[in-house]
Amino acid sequence: MTTRLRRRNTRRNTWIYVNMLALSCSPFLRLALIVLLCADRCAAVKWLALHRIKQKTWENARNCSKMYGLIPRQVKICKQNLDLMATVARASHVSVETCQNQFSDRRWNCSSITNVPSLPKDLVRGTREQSYVYAIASSALVHSIARACSIGVTTKCSCGALPSSSPSTGFKWGGCGDDVHFGLFFAEVFTEAVLTSKKGKPKTSKRALTNKHNFRAGRQIVTDSLTTACKCHGVSGSCSIKTCWKALPDFDIIGAKLKDRYSLAVEVHRKRRKKEKVLVPINEAKSGIRSDELVYYTKSPDYCSPDHKTGSIGTHARLCDEQSYGPGGCDTMCCGRGFHSFTMDVAERCECKYYWCCYVKCKTCVKTLHLSQCR
Ligand SMILES: *[C@@H]1O[C@H](CO)[C@@H](O)[C@H](O)[C@H]1NC(C)=O
Ligand SMILES: *[C@@H]1O[C@H](CO)[C@@H](O)[C@H](O)[C@H]1NC(C)=O
Repeated sequence: MTTRLRRRNTRRNTWIYVNMLALSCSPFLRLALIVLLCADRCAAVKWLALHRIKQKTWENARNCSKMYGLIPRQVKICKQNLDLMATVARASHVSVETCQNQFSDRRWNCSSITNVPSLPKDLVRGTREQSYVYAIASSALVHSIARACSIGVTTKCSCGALPSSSPSTGFKWGGCGDDVHFGLFFAEVFTEAVLTSKKGKPKTSKRALTNKHNFRAGRQIVTDSLTTACKCHGVSGSCSIKTCWKALPDFDIIGAKLKDRYSLAVEVHRKRRKKEKVLVPINEAKSGIRSDELVYYTKSPDYCSPDHKTGSIGTHARLCDEQSYGPGGCDTMCCGRGFHSFTMDVAERCECKYYWCCYVKCKTCVKTLHLSQCR
């Protein structure tokens, strides 16, 4: 029965069908049906639901709940790594925030991500936007875990290993670098838990292969972003002794790099090569897919008007910039529907003065903002 159901899954009315069927089943069977159907389709970044968590304490195994969008395999990882879960939650928070900042002046502005664990259509159909979200989630995980290692939140990892190559000019390796190695390992295990079948085999659907590639691209970007940070020692900062270590940049920089990858994302389809199923670029002139490239298999809509089928919410009432011809400019943002301009007064603290000792006194100034909003 379940295989038949799964096949029907590709058809549009499946959910109604399943729900009707499920209603007539026992509660247990009902849950099992929904979990089965959903496992492949919607679970891969559900754990971003952790971004809502404010509490920092993960002290007992009961905290690892499906409520936070974790699948059973991740619940198990959670129970074994309670000391890292606040960091995982932090990574989901950083993913959501960075995605929304990077896309704040785009028609698609990453607002749908906050619906997790329920994923809207724009994040399940295999679009470019989905590829960005998957990559940012996995890179945030690597980044946060690697940092957490170097500040000592867990005993599972500590400072990153020092590079084996000897430094070229006048410094020695030392200090405490971010443990990217452990970050990569943890992120891979945690994210790919979802892309593995119950029996432990990797899933090979087009969706699973694509999600897997984008998770990997996210990890790759972090590795490629490692820089060398140094500190000087010696008499009054003379820098006669310098120690250096490998450190990660702020996550904003990684978010921006991924946005470049998003613009250059490669459209792919799945092909059988010998016994393996692999993704290949639609454009035959392109020879292969690099590990730091994002891939997608469904063309995105223009996100101009609301469309239930694609998950577009449209740009009605979005703020736009009348002066700009870029993506946030009113012409592009409002898709030619036009816009209306208005002014708004906002109060601001200004002309602040410091008085000895110790207070600051400010005046309140009213500033008039000129804003435009899409029709
Ligand atoms: C974990 O459980 C404890 C007590 O049961 C609770 O105080 C805490 O808020 C929980 N943390 C999370 C993240 O749910
Ligand atoms: C994104 O756009 C929608 C409407 O299109 C708007 O309601 C929402 O506030 C925007 N979100 C952000 C984070 O800018």
